[in-house]
Parts: sequence; structure tokens; C-alpha cells
Amino acid sequence: ARITLRQLLDHAAENDYGVPAFNISNMEQGLAIMAAADKTGAPVILQMSRGARAYANDIVLSRLIDGLVELYPHIPVCVHLDHGNNLATCVTAIQHGFTSVMMDGSLLEDGKTPADYAYNAGITARVVEVAHAAGVSVEGELGVLGSLETGMGDQEDGHGATGKLSHDQLLTDPEEAERFVTDTGVDALAVAMGTSHGAYKFSRKPDGDVLAMNVIEEIHRRLPNTHLVMHGSSSVPQELCEIINAHGGEIKPTWGVPMEEIKRGIRHGVRKINIDTDIRLAITAAIRRTLAEAPGEFDPRKYLAPARDAVTALCMEKFEGFGTAGQA
Ligand code: G3H
Ligand code: 13P
Ligand code: NA
Ligand code: ZN
Repeated sequence: ARITLRQLLDHAAENDYGVPAFNISNMEQGLAIMAAADKTGAPVILQMSRGARAYANDIVLSRLIDGLVELYPHIPVCVHLDHGNNLATCVTAIQHGFTSVMMDGSLLEDGKTPADYAYNAGITARVVEVAHAAGVSVEGELGVLGSLETGMGDQEDGHGATGKLSHDQLLTDPEEAERFVTDTGVDALAVAMGTSHGAYKFSRKPDGDVLAMNVIEEIHRRLPNTHLVMHGSSSVPQELCEIINAHGGEIKPTWGVPMEEIKRGIRHGVRKINIDTDIRLAITAAIRRTLAEAPGEFDPRKYLAPARDAVTALCMEKFEGFGTAGQA
């Protein structure tokens, strides 16, 4: 059944686990994630970006979600808007059955320009007012995602802040986080501490200089009852990059966020862990390998079924690792 983000993360906090929030934009991903949730007995967050909504169409996507919820009535499903950029986008998501929305006011509506505190707190508080009236949860974001290694904004895949950012912008200020939660009433808070979206997060295995988990610990000390969200939390498994590159792909050397760092976050108030890139890599690895091994194949089901199975296996690992398994 459908539940709100608040309901799910309250349960996660009471029982010391984290919930992966998986991005979807098609049926294969939806079926694969739900199969993993079913096999491990995990509650699930299905999240859709504005890009996903434009790609798959709001009507088709919302009927897909209806189908998935009906297919697995015993699995709690939070249906979440990822990175909403204004009130209208959040409202249309609510109209299509989303139980949670993210208002990302860390950037202006263009999705590129870092916003000041007053803009972010103002627009987020407005979304909270509207969403809560409809029984829908809200995630806000304070701090701009980007690389502490290079100081560059999170623009690798064409969205996120452009240009060079200061250390101050790239790390959420714990004191400001306290003020933001009071000023807005958000149900969950996404923080910036060195992760970025996409496959190219770190040039080496991340240590405390480039992945500032201590910021999360400090925010959790000040806001023990606030559910924290980690964006850019894919681990970018080396073996998936190798499969892709062995079959004609070109993924450059890179590191993601190791599972042990996410577990550390979960011990310090992180309840929602956003994962898109790992699913994209799993799908692409399976499709490239299947097509390379059976070049005469042209029935899409023949390569989409292995891709689905690869996503299910990946998601089961996340549910087990984050302690979500068995919590449905
Ligand atoms: O915010 C990043 C998520 O991975 C969604 O990406 O906007 O390409 O759908 P997208
Ligand atoms: P990844 O690119 O690390 O999977 O992060 C996804 C995300 O944060 C979506 O909001
Ligand atoms: Na989100
Ligand atoms: Zn994100």
C-alpha cells in the first residue's frame, strides 16, 4: 500500500534502518525494484525526477505505480518526486498520486544557480504548507551538491549547479540546518557533504577530505529527530563498469560512495539514500553483455529481462545492506 515519506522514515528511525530511494522512469525498473522489495520483505521508495516524468508521461507513470502497488499489496510504497524545482511541479505530482515531494530550493528554478537562504526557506515553507494540507510529505535540501575534490558544481549530466563553488556552499552548515527545519517544517532534509549525482563522484576511494560524513554527524547531533537524506549515493560498482567497458562501453575510472560510509550515515540519522546511477549501470551492463553474447537477438524482451534481473539483484543488496530487509 501507498505510504508517505514521513510514515516510512519515522518507522526507519524507530528501528534504526535506512531506505533506498530508487529512481525509475520505466516499467522494467519498477517491476525489478518491487520484485527485490518482495523477496527481501522491504518497504520501498520509488522516486521520479522531472526528467523521468517528461520521459514516461505523468498519466502512464501514475498508472504504472498503481499497478505496482496493486501487484504487491503487502509492500509499503512511498511515491516521491525527486528534485522538484517549483510549487507547480510539486502540485502536479500530488495530483498524480505522489505521497511525497522534494522541493529542491538549494538552486533557483533554473536548476543551475545556487539560491540564497531566504529563497530556499521561503519556497520550501510554501510547498510544505500546500503538501501537508494534502497529506503529502516534503523533503527539502540545504547546501549545494558538488565535488569537494574539484570545487565544481554538480553539472556532469547537464543539471545541477554550474561553475566553481566555495567550500561553504558545498557543505551544509549544521547551524543553518537547524534554522531551516524550524523555518520550513520539512519532513526530511537532504544535506550536502561531498557527494554528487552521476557516475563520476570521486577520483579515488573517498576519505574524510572528500566525503564529509562528519557534517552528517554534527547535523544529527543538533537535529536528532530530523530524517536526513543522502543524494548522490550510488556506489558505482567497479564490476559493472568493467562489464560495460568489456562490451564496447566507455566508463572512465571512478569511485562512488562505499556501502560502509552509507551504513555510517544510517547510524547518524540518514534515513533516505538516493540511488539512480547504480541502476543505470546495472541495466546497461546487462544489455551490453546480452547483445554482445547473442548478436542475432532483436527481441527487446531478451535483453530487458536480464537487465531487470540485474536491477533486482542490485536492489536486494541495498535492502540487505541498509537494514531495510524484513521491515515491510
Ligand atoms: O537528480 C538526479 C537523478 O539521478 C535524476 O536524474 O534528472 O536525469 O532523471 P534525471
Ligand atoms: P546517484 O547519481 O548517485 O545514483 O544519485 C541519485 C540521486 O541523488 C537522485 O536524486
Ligand atoms: Na529526492
Ligand atoms: Zn538527487
